[in-house]
Amino acid sequence: MRAGILTGGGDCPGLNAVIRATGRRLLDNGWEVLGIRAGWRGLVDGKLEPLGAREISGILPRGGTIIGTSRTNPYKLEGGVDAVLRTFAESGLDALVAIGGEDTLGVAARLHEERGFPVVGVPKTIDNDLSATDYTFGFDTAVWICTEAIDRLHTTAESHNRVMVVEVMGRHTGWIAVMSGIAGGADVILIPEQPLTVEDACTEISRRHAKGKDFSIVVVSEGYELTYASGERRQVTQEDATDAFGHVRLGGVGDALAREIEERTGYETRVTVLGHVQRGGSPTPRDRVLATRYGLKAADLVLGGSWGRMAALHGDKIVDVSLKEATAQLKTVPPDWYGVAKAFFG
Ligand code: F6P
Repeated sequence: MRAGILTGGGDCPGLNAVIRATGRRLLDNGWEVLGIRAGWRGLVDGKLEPLGAREISGILPRGGTIIGTSRTNPYKLEGGVDAVLRTFAESGLDALVAIGGEDTLGVAARLHEERGFPVVGVPKTIDNDLSATDYTFGFDTAVWICTEAIDRLHTTAESHNRVMVVEVMGRHTGWIAVMSGIAGGADVILIPEQPLTVEDACTEISRRHAKGKDFSIVVVSEGYELTYASGERRQVTQEDATDAFGHVRLGGVGDALAREIEERTGYETRVTVLGHVQRGGSPTPRDRVLATRYGLKAADLVLGGSWGRMAALHGDKIVDVSLKEATAQLKTVPPDWYGVAKAFFG
């Protein structure tokens, strides 16, 4: 029997840990394993390579993905889905393990639903926005990196009596902003799901300064729309074009917000955009363990022929859920989590 593994979407700490765990268990059960190059692109173009014991050895702590990734959407390519099915059959594959976020797993769910494709999923994304699982792997590492950055920015904020704005990733959900903001002791956190107005954010900062604290840390999620008391809202993007999954490239809201804060409060303000540093480097121990547990579960789903399922974390247990359920809608930050953050505003 032969299984393929692919990693799709943005790279993410822990991808190699999943590849190692899934590969190890399948090899131990007498399966052959092939790595599919660059996500769905590899199945469209027929680019596969053997993943044997040697290839998957020593990769547990490595960031990125040894088999490459892309944001290819076969449903958006002429003949793309047929090419995927043809490569799969011609390569003698019996199963596919798709490691990805809502886009990659959305394709997997649809292929399973519409074409009976034998696929299982593993929930990857630093954004933590996949439904039906408590946490995706990669998120903990991103939060750790952002928290460390916020800690470091405190130094300059305090020394120069400045407002430091930190822009973090997370696309249309504020999980990274809320968790790193809570962990780093941010004074204001702005997220897409529950947008505080620019005026209210400035009031919180001024209130803090009136209490004798002459510096502030503001964490803003890239997907936060500049929101005004007038009801006006403005999304800041890097370009108008969208990718194969219809996503705009977010980024730049930190700059716009910093200008607003400086103008409205008169406090000197600087901005730091953390960008892809958040996805880089070695996974935290927590992500290594979660990715390993997910990887073993995915292999078990393959061995049991449980197609259309995804490994998931419920509490402390690894379970399996339907890919369709996991990709039906984004998991947003609930009000009680934002409430924890808000308790420390101002
Ligand atoms: O989904 C992960 C993510 O890092 C988002 O937080 C971010 O908006 C996006 O990917 C950036 O994508 P790219 O690496 O293509 O610029």
